[in-house]
Amino acid sequence: MDNVVDFINMNRDRYLEELKALLAIPSVSALPVHAPDVRRCAEWVADEMRRIGLQNVQLHETAGNPVVYGDWLGAPGAPTMLFYGHYDVQPVDPLDLWESPPFEGTVRDGELYARGSADDKGQVFMHFKALEAWLRQNGRLPINVKLIIEGEEEVGSDNLDEFVRTHKRELAADVVVISDSPMFDRGVPSICYGLRGLAYFQIDLRGTKSDLHSGSFGGAVANPAFVLAQMIAQMKDRGGRIKVPGFYDDVRALTDAEREEFKKLPFNETRFRKDLGAPKLMGETGYSTLERVWGRPTLEVNGLLSGFTGDGAKTVIPAVAMAKISMRLVPDQDPAKIADQFEKWVWKIAPKTMELKFTRMHGGKPWMTSFDNAFVQAAGRAIERGFGKSPVFTREGGSIPVVSTFQEELGLPSVLFGVGLPDENAHAPNERIDLGNFYNGIIASAYFYEELAGVTV
Ligand code: BES
Ligand code: ZN
Repeated sequence: MDNVVDFINMNRDRYLEELKALLAIPSVSALPVHAPDVRRCAEWVADEMRRIGLQNVQLHETAGNPVVYGDWLGAPGAPTMLFYGHYDVQPVDPLDLWESPPFEGTVRDGELYARGSADDKGQVFMHFKALEAWLRQNGRLPINVKLIIEGEEEVGSDNLDEFVRTHKRELAADVVVISDSPMFDRGVPSICYGLRGLAYFQIDLRGTKSDLHSGSFGGAVANPAFVLAQMIAQMKDRGGRIKVPGFYDDVRALTDAEREEFKKLPFNETRFRKDLGAPKLMGETGYSTLERVWGRPTLEVNGLLSGFTGDGAKTVIPAVAMAKISMRLVPDQDPAKIADQFEKWVWKIAPKTMELKFTRMHGGKPWMTSFDNAFVQAAGRAIERGFGKSPVFTREGGSIPVVSTFQEELGLPSVLFGVGLPDENAHAPNERIDLGNFYNGIIASAYFYEELAGVTV
């Protein structure tokens, strides 16, 4: 094993240059203009998987972006790891807030800045390099591995469920491993045992066939911007509780034991607030910040659009108003059921003065697992060896839709071992990854495969 770690330490500069090449491909799945880049990125990932010595590497076409598959199955009798990650990234706007170009990896103060550096290309690449080090130095891996790297995670993984359902035999494994989440804090590595789900919607209102002079017509017709604001205002009460009927029916309550564990974590609320630049924190009454983000559902307005927003003033009644609204869900809420409840209620509260269009966008189920299994313990030992500290256990507020699918369709537990940091600006300008965590992550991953080899399956 020492030879593997030595190899990793000797190749740090090369890793950085190679990762920059991956980060240079603008594989933004949400924007159709980037479709050719998304495909180019899938090809790059496949080529890289071949370079590091994986076998049966291929692009699986789906109704959307290709899934890249590769494996190495030369350890009969040893456990099989199914590694999952994504090569697509979020859009980069607002571009002017980036201190260096988003698709030109740039190192400043020990951090590599670029879109996808933390979410998720950097973390996928960390496993590529750990696998490469094993294969180069020993000509083999201590376990069997199957990798699927998808290109639609950032837009809801709509076609991946189908891929998993139709490739159950090919994907058979003992454990899923994912590195697509932050660690708890700088110097506090963690294993994540729960993710929230998601349900995403768009609401469009139309009041008239075109914009109107607000003097000639103001008072005679309802204003869509105003009506939309009134509808949104009804969605939560003052205590932050969501007022959609039935919304809380299936919410699994946080247990007292879990709340006690959350309290023990080294969470500094003042620092958290200041880092966000928020004058004051706020959320559902009766819950701490970590409980609100990890264990309680929310409803957020992700975007609002209506009327005149340029410089100066324009006296106009807008014809239309639009809102993007999403909910984060917790076990045992079901995105489809929540969508039905929400749609029914929105139609009910929309006044007759408006034409309403209600659109369901993507969703994903919440996920939670117990963490007293041998795979999680193996990850804990590997993290301790790679980072010099044993991990804490966390839940997260974000979503990775396929994790519940792995559980439901393949019956597999997942180990979420992420090396991002909570302040690394995933989805925002100036996304970055701490290079120390990236390199330690490669070493910890290499140890992890060795630790997994010792798990009896
Ligand atoms: N890496 C994140 C998921 C994540 C974020 C895990 C924060 C833990 C903490 C992932 O790439 C992501 O952003 N997922 C989307 C999924 C959605 C589009 C269905 C998300 O959470 O918004
Ligand atoms: Zn993301």
